[in-house]
Amino acid sequence: MKFATRAIRVGQSLDPATRAVIPPIHPSVTYAFNEIEKHSGFEYSRTGNPTRAAFEQCLASLEEAKFGLAFASGSAATDAALCVLKSGDHVVAGNHLYGGTYRIFETLYKPRGMTFSYVDGDDPRNFERALTPQTKMIWIESPTNPLLKLIDIAAVAAIARRAGAILAVDNTFATPYFQQPLTLGAEVVLHSTTKYVNGHSDVLGGALATNRQDLYAAFQFYQNAIGAVLGPFDSWLTLRGLKTLAVRMRQHEANALRIAEFLKGRPQVESVIYPGLPSHPQHELARRQMKGFGGIVTFRIRGGREAANAFVKALRIFIFAESLGGVESLACHPATMSHASLTEEERQAIGITQGTVRLSVGIEDGDDLIEDLDQALGRKAV
Ligand SMILES: Cc1ncc(COP(=O)(O)O)c(C=O)c1O
Repeated sequence: MKFATRAIRVGQSLDPATRAVIPPIHPSVTYAFNEIEKHSGFEYSRTGNPTRAAFEQCLASLEEAKFGLAFASGSAATDAALCVLKSGDHVVAGNHLYGGTYRIFETLYKPRGMTFSYVDGDDPRNFERALTPQTKMIWIESPTNPLLKLIDIAAVAAIARRAGAILAVDNTFATPYFQQPLTLGAEVVLHSTTKYVNGHSDVLGGALATNRQDLYAAFQFYQNAIGAVLGPFDSWLTLRGLKTLAVRMRQHEANALRIAEFLKGRPQVESVIYPGLPSHPQHELARRQMKGFGGIVTFRIRGGREAANAFVKALRIFIFAESLGGVESLACHPATMSHASLTEEERQAIGITQGTVRLSVGIEDGDDLIEDLDQALGRKAV
């Protein structure tokens, strides 16, 4: 089956009791045993739940993975992925990460004895140079949040393999529709399903996917032990969202490309970052490792924080709010929102200025979106 069909069918067979076409929500926390130590696949909802399992199977299939696990948030999934580390282990990470991931590394894991090196992902050899005999994991995002830098996943996967380290890729921005890291050699894929996978900004969730039985067993043990699972209602909603991932992503991308091109021509805009623009320094890599360029456009407005503030206040269709990946268009000010947990110095070092604005381009009519940006930019004197 092809991608769009799998999104609608995998894990979603007819309900055997009623032949219902849509998988039911199973709120029951407990499942009857047949006899001592014998049950029919489910026993307690923290350990496994049929609605969650349906979603986990479907997402795993879209990521070309054997195994999938759904969590209460992307951050809970990040924590679960790190459960294979112990004190003394070293992680090499790209230096452009979602601020919350960096916060987990620095404030939760570092004090427990894990060490982290952050490298410029533009050159994959930087990951190799940072390896130590203790390196257990390489962690990357591609495209990164919010500056849409790309990392050559296949090249880093080869480095990880030679070093015996696990390559984990946060695939939240690209989604499996545009990029499948496991097919490029990564061993773990992470999603904040809060974003495109659910796609409607109404469910917080996260997921891991892998082909490695040992990693799956470790993640599953941790998931059951800690219990930060995606609930049955949320699993059902997220599975419903996932069904339309292919059509949504095509529309996000079509609108994003138009907007990137529009912004490029505006005098109020200092620079536009979108992997689909030939001017993006890694446009060729994007063409090679992705099937599309995604729905996020980041730009720097002339006039810094003041101009950015005037712009977001003037927006009428774009909503000035955290998060991304929903059907509605959002604008975010990364310096004070998604990346507020970094110091100003750390942000400056990686290029998140006070004039940086991230647009999560939705699937509304593209003309309306451009008109909105046009009028909002017009409010700012240049
Ligand atoms: C790239 C990326 N990874 C992980 C997360 C964390 O996900 P959640 O907010 O679902 O915990 C986010 C949240 O914005 C994100 O953008």
